[in-house]
Amino acid sequence: MVKAIQVGLGHWGFSWTKEVIPKVPAVHMAGYVDANPEAIKRVQVELGIEDKRCFLSLEDAAKGVEADLVIATLRTEAHYPVVRQALELGFNVLVEKPFASTIAQAKELVALAEQQNRILMVSQNYRFQPAPIAAAELIGAQKFGPVNLVSVDFRRHAPSQGYRYWDMPDPLLADMSIHHFDLMRMVLNDDPKRVSCRTWNPPASPFGHHPMGVATVEFEKGTIVSYRGSWMSSGPVTPWAGEWTMDCSEGEICWTSRDHFMGKAGPDRLTTRVRDAQPEAIALQPLDFADRTGTLAAIAKAIASVSVPARFSSGKDNLHSLALVQATILSAGREGAWVDIAEVMA
Ligand SMILES: NC(=O)c1ccc[n+]([C@@H]2O[C@H](COP(=O)([O-])OP(=O)(O)OC[C@H]3O[C@@H](n4cnc5c(N)ncnc54)[C@H](O)[C@@H]3O)[C@@H](O)[C@H]2O)c1
Repeated sequence: MVKAIQVGLGHWGFSWTKEVIPKVPAVHMAGYVDANPEAIKRVQVELGIEDKRCFLSLEDAAKGVEADLVIATLRTEAHYPVVRQALELGFNVLVEKPFASTIAQAKELVALAEQQNRILMVSQNYRFQPAPIAAAELIGAQKFGPVNLVSVDFRRHAPSQGYRYWDMPDPLLADMSIHHFDLMRMVLNDDPKRVSCRTWNPPASPFGHHPMGVATVEFEKGTIVSYRGSWMSSGPVTPWAGEWTMDCSEGEICWTSRDHFMGKAGPDRLTTRVRDAQPEAIALQPLDFADRTGTLAAIAKAIASVSVPARFSSGKDNLHSLALVQATILSAGREGAWVDIAEVMA
């Protein structure tokens, strides 16, 4: 049993407290932290959490309860100071995406985790879904031969769909595309080499920064990914993971994942099509622990044993996903000029 302290009980953090953590039996909650007393009050009133388990700082929680793991469910700008403090206090850490605001901060945290001999994982929950796992297996087995082109589309209309982060500096690339970029790496089992990206803010948009973008990503093994993402689309809404077409030399793999929209939820879907034949729907294997319960169960397993579970998004691994975010932001700032991942990793 892994004993945990959760830090950050805001909008998404409260959902972790109520809907995610209780579904992972390997994790026992020792404490809850939020700097805002209102957030503490909410978990006490709505979820019946005892006062003795609630703290206004991680430092106080570390003195008041015993734990092995910190679950950091805070806004990105708070990730670096809180994760750093958690590692210094000797905790293992599971942190929400995006890992950190800069590559330099993320690298420092990875080095600190190694120095402290602690596990640091980024909660890339989209990895723990049936369709991307099946797609990764088909690509890994070269079922349809080498990949010729990958196309990914993500479409939402944020103003009518409950989005809240209007002032976030990179609402598409840093907050949302990180999921798609991380999935590209997982499904292709490859790392990005360079990227060209354009972003913009359309008329009548409530966003302070750019909510739409297109990117071309070149991977180390030569695969090209064409990516289009929009928080301001009037087109048909895509599932959260986007719509993927993986065009290979002998056929194609089409899939989509996390089909939740305005209270409705649909299953992941994956079809394959041999060139010139009809598409075939593939039955997908449900996961014992999916999505956020998947990342939490994975770190609990990693702490309890010494083995690293499949698709484990360690802080070190996640540097490559975060680097793709930073490189697309840099490229967009340079009017779409190609940016090498090596430049942002340096
Ligand atoms: N993985 C996903 O699918 C997904 C979906 C939505 C949001 N998120 C992520 O969840 C994270 C949290 O988002 P949110 O909407 O809950 O933010 P929020 O602003 O609603 O909540 C953040 C909370 O952290 C608290 N806090 C800030 N600094 C603190 C500190 N140093 N110590 C203790 N408490 C502190 C604040 O008081 C607040 O209650 C973000 O990183 C976001 O990217 C992930």
